[in-house]
Amino acid sequence: MIGIGSDHGGFALKQAIMKHLEARGLEYRDYGTYSEASCDYPDYGKAVALAVAEGSCDRGILICGTGIGISITANKVPGIRAALCGDCFSAEATRLHNDANILALGARVVGEGLALKIVDTFLDTPFSNDERHIRRIRKIEG
Ligand code: RB5
Repeated sequence: MIGIGSDHGGFALKQAIMKHLEARGLEYRDYGTYSEASCDYPDYGKAVALAVAEGSCDRGILICGTGIGISITANKVPGIRAALCGDCFSAEATRLHNDANILALGARVVGEGLALKIVDTFLDTPFSNDERHIRRIRKIEG
């Protein structure tokens, strides 16, 4: 199960990503926002991050205007490794190296076509399970 959320700045891209996930036959849960009315990104960043941290979602996708505020929010939740990606190389590397469990996107930064490729790369790349990466992730967690 993929948890997805955005603020108003990410609403249109969230709709496009959900359509894409449906076309791929992937299950998702939409944590809002549900319109383009102005709202606060921490509310949605927190909701998806908690769902991933407690295990009701395996992965998360978060979108705001820049992707920055919503990724900062998600990374405050213990166990969350949210990666703000604007290219496919980073999306692949953060799965292989960081075992990132949330992808953050900036809807005012990347176009829809690139965003969907980043989503696919993030979802389709497994963690490397390399000892050095496991050791480094443990060090993030303290
Ligand atoms: C909303 O205007 C904007 O601040 C928000 O979407 C995001 O970019 C914050 O980091």
